[in-house]
Amino acid sequence: MNKAQFEKIENELTKLTPQEGLRYVNEFFGEAATLSTSFGLEDQVISHMIANAKLKIGIFTIDTGRLFQETCDVHDLTRKKYQLPISTFYPQTSSVQQLIDTKGPNSFYESVDNRKQCCFIRKVEPLQRALKGKSVWITGLRADQSVNRGGMNKVEWDENYQVIKYNPILDWSLDEVNSFIERNNIPTNTLHKKGFPSIGCAPCTRAIHAGEDIRAGRWWWENSGKECGLHEAKIPVK
Ligand code: ADX
Ligand code: SF4
Repeated sequence: MNKAQFEKIENELTKLTPQEGLRYVNEFFGEAATLSTSFGLEDQVISHMIANAKLKIGIFTIDTGRLFQETCDVHDLTRKKYQLPISTFYPQTSSVQQLIDTKGPNSFYESVDNRKQCCFIRKVEPLQRALKGKSVWITGLRADQSVNRGGMNKVEWDENYQVIKYNPILDWSLDEVNSFIERNNIPTNTLHKKGFPSIGCAPCTRAIHAGEDIRAGRWWWENSGKECGLHEAKIPVK
């Protein structure tokens, strides 16, 4: 895709509501567009929109091998309710085996480098495979989730993966997300009601206390940028 083609799409897509935008992406890209879901609140909103409008856009999730049972439960509820084919990507067995054999199962608590290595093996590398051959990557990112995300655009060119990254509900507030979920009776992760607004892997996510930032429970022992690499710009793509 050249610059002019991207700019045309960016210009048109940015102005549309999420529902209109997903239809637009469906019309122009069909199965070459894909939603990544961790079954978080935002992803559930977008999956509902895709299912409701019977779009051809694909949906995939990355099972890191360290997820909460509650996340597997909402995965199951979602596929049953919407009858959607959700593809699951797993880390490479040999990479996980080598990591555990050399550093043990809990190396992520020992340093940021170790944590990023685990996130690379369990999330980023499977993401690279999931996006291979795709043209549009749809996510549930929201600007007010973090300072870093506040600087993102609804439609971006992702240099790493050579795809258009579309964040249809980037400018929604958490209240808007919650009321859409309630109005449409969308299944959600039961951990949200137990103080987990943002949910990743079980050993790396805790509940937050009143007044804490919504991502405070992710990699809570770190003072890092609290990103796993899925949405960082400078990850080498093999
Ligand atoms: S993370 O980078 O900190 O883990 P977060 O949980 O906020 O991400 O989710 C942001 C978006 O990243 C989700 O809307 C979803 O598109 C994608 N995402 C996060 N985790 C996964 C996963 N395990 N599988 C697929 N997509 C994911
Ligand atoms: Fe590994 Fe934790 Fe990253 Fe999951 S969130 S991939 S367990 S470091």
